[in-house]
Order: sequence, then structure tokens, then C-alpha cells
Amino acid sequence: MSKIQAPKGTYDILPDGNPKDPWTVSANWQAIERIAREVAALYHFREIRTPIYEYTDLFHRGTGETTDIVRRETFTFTDRGGDSLTLRPEGTPGVVRAAVQHNLLADQGSRLKVFYIAPNFRYERPQRGRYHQHHQFGVEAFGIAQPEQDAECITLQMDFYRRCGVKDLSLRLNTLGDAESKKRYRDALVQFLEPRKSQLSEDSQRRLTENPLRILDSKDEKDVKAREGAPAAQEYLSEASQTHFARVQELLTQGSIPFVVDSTLVRGLDYYTNTVWEVIAGGLGAQNSMGGGGRYDNLVETLDGKPTPGVGFGSGLERLLIALEAQGVDLPKSSPPLVWLISLGDAARDANLKLIQELRQHNIPADMDPTGRSAKAQFKLADREGAAYAITVGETELSSGNVVLKNLKTTEQTAIARSEIVAHLQSLVTK
Ligand code: HAM
Repeated sequence: MSKIQAPKGTYDILPDGNPKDPWTVSANWQAIERIAREVAALYHFREIRTPIYEYTDLFHRGTGETTDIVRRETFTFTDRGGDSLTLRPEGTPGVVRAAVQHNLLADQGSRLKVFYIAPNFRYERPQRGRYHQHHQFGVEAFGIAQPEQDAECITLQMDFYRRCGVKDLSLRLNTLGDAESKKRYRDALVQFLEPRKSQLSEDSQRRLTENPLRILDSKDEKDVKAREGAPAAQEYLSEASQTHFARVQELLTQGSIPFVVDSTLVRGLDYYTNTVWEVIAGGLGAQNSMGGGGRYDNLVETLDGKPTPGVGFGSGLERLLIALEAQGVDLPKSSPPLVWLISLGDAARDANLKLIQELRQHNIPADMDPTGRSAKAQFKLADREGAAYAITVGETELSSGNVVLKNLKTTEQTAIARSEIVAHLQSLVTK
């Protein structure tokens, strides 16, 4: 019988993961999650955590019945009570559900700005950068219909990438128009494509009735050819939608955030109206979308809330780690250096058990091997565990009241009074 493995499309995050697969190294996650939390706090977004599964209906109504996500990518199961549940494929519907359920948007226009760092589940064909379980840092801002809110979300997202050190980014921007403009455009597109139906790919022939806008971002050569000369969304925009989009662009320009307007960008979720955007990064290969978002002014109402505008983005964290690795960027690691205690004999071990507690109480990470192995074996272990300093205690040290501190990188050694060691290490590790 073969050994049990992690399910297909999932991976483990380990203390020493494979640096060539940067999404498997736990310190990398700690670093980007810390930056995400810091940047969210700077823009005054507060954390929300919702369950990883919801009633299936939420995603059918929220994400949209005709989206690829709901049609063929959800993990859906019936629980023992007979209810149909779905593992969250994307963060937005759960956040809206929670906001409505807890009356966080009670008065129309009330503001709510939240962020999440959370796993999502999509049954897509696994490959580098595409998993059955992936993680997103996302934000959602409710209550402000003005383009300033779109620009704040985009600015936050780009600031997050900048702080992580990722380069070679391109921000693509488009507008789908408000619900009415979107519908007018949809009708015009169907009218244009209907006579060309037989030239479309099989998927797009289906999309023609269900979700025609998606034909615009299909990469299938047949679709690219068939849609040549198709009308552009811009021609169908209401005046309000045009003004909104122009102002978003103006704000980004004022904020020195480069972008390109791409009229083929429609994004794969039904709820978007007006602004949509996507950030593409170099070094990602086929799965080059780092993150995307948009405005969804009708979603709260669709999910039983009072009409409330919303806008947000989701950024794939595996893809961010892959891009950073491909671009040779080292993430700032924040953990202070580790001190390893070496004990020569039982009495020294007992003394070190006291010292280790003292170090930890003073916020100095410390560890030791209590099994009574040779000094050589203990030093080897200290090296393997990545310790920066070793403190040796033996009979001599116990009687002299000193300990021996060794910098494991430079191999420099000094005797220091036991009573001074905590203060001395504190000055070293906070340097
Ligand atoms: P999305 O474009 O479906 O948007 O996903 C956002 C990001 O999640 C993608 O750009 C990608 O980086 C990452 N991602 C998606 N699927 C996978 C996968 N199978 N494996 C690895 N990474 C993946 C949303 O989910 C919207 N909820 C974003 C949003 C929030 N819009 C408004 N608010």
C-alpha cells in the first residue's frame, strides 16, 4: 500500500521548505503576512475572518451561477444533516454575508473597511502557481461609491507589493460600466458575436448565452479571431460611469501609480460593475495574475443587504512568493537571532534550564538539547538549527560564575559573568 500523501493540488508549508518552491517555506509566509497586516493597518482596514465553508447558495448567488468558479471549480459536499456546503472559492461573498448578517452595513452608506488573509479552494488543474488550496490577502471597502475608494484599494495593493520588494509589475485597468451600461454592452456584444457563433471555441459558444463578456478575455485563438472588430465597452458607458473611470485614472496618475487601460479585461466574476483591475507580474509564467479586484455596487443587495456600494481586491500569496523568488528578492525576516545553550554535565544542564527560562522571559529566543550528548554533538545541532550564538556552561563556568559566549558565525568567544549575560545578549540581538 502506498503511503498517504497530501491531497492533489495542495502542499505543506514547512519550517525548512524547499527554497526553490518558496510557497513551502513557513518563514516566507510569516514575512508577507506581517507586511500585509502592516499595510492594511496603515490604510485603516481591520481584520475579518469568516468560515472556510459556507452554504453553497451563497457562492451561486454571490460569485455567480455562470462563472467558471461556480460551474466547475467548487468543492461542494453535503454535511451529515443534509445541507449543501461549499469550501470558499473566493473571499468576497463570505465577507458580504457576514457584514449583512451582523448588521455592519445597517444604514445605507455606513462605512466598513476590512481585510483578510485566508485560504480558498478551487478545483482547477494544478500547476505552478495554481493550486486546489491557495491563499489570498484581500480587502473589501463598503459604503463609498466614489472613485476615491477604488483608488485607495489599488494604492494599498501596489504599496503591499512595493513593501514586499516585488518588481516588474503591470497594472491593467478597465471599466465594465454600471449595471445598465454593462447590460447594454452585453447585448451589443451578443448581437455582434451571434452571427460568428460557429467560429467561437466550444467554451465560448456556451458563454455566448451565459456570460458573453468572458469571451473578451479568452486566450483561445478562435475566440481572438472571432471577436476582431467587436464593439468596445467604452462606447456603451453611461456618463456617470465615464466620469467615474476618468477620475480613477486621474487619481492613480496623481498618486504616481502607472497603469494601462485594457478594454479586454473583464475578470471572471459576475458581480463587478464599473472599475476592474488586475496586476500582472514578471517571473510567474502562465499563471501571471498576482491579484485583481474591482467594484461591486450591487452585490450587497444581491445577498439580502440594503443597497451598499463595495470595492476590493484579492491577491494570490503563492504567486507573490513565486514572483519574489523568480526575481531574486530576499524577504525581510523578522525573527531575532537564536541562542543555543550547551551543557557539559548534569549540573550545567540544570543551570542552563534556569538560564533558558530567563532568556525567554527577556524575549531572547533560546533552545538547548537536554539529552546529555557530547559538546561536539550539541554544537553541531546548534549549527543545524541555525543558532547565531552558543553559550557553554560546564564545571569551570559553574565555579567561576562565568559563561562562555560564542558567536557561531565569526567563532569569536568571550567569557562573560553569568549575572551580565542577559543584558549582554539583549544588546546584541537588538542591534
Ligand atoms: P480572483 O481574480 O478570482 O479574484 O483571485 C484573486 C487572485 O487569487 C488571483 O489573481 C490569483 O493571484 C489568486 N488565485 C486565484 N485562483 C488561484 C489558484 N487556483 N491558485 C493560486 N492562486 C490563485 C477574487 O477572488 C476576488 N474575490 C477578488 C476581489 C475581492 N474582488 C473584489 N474584492
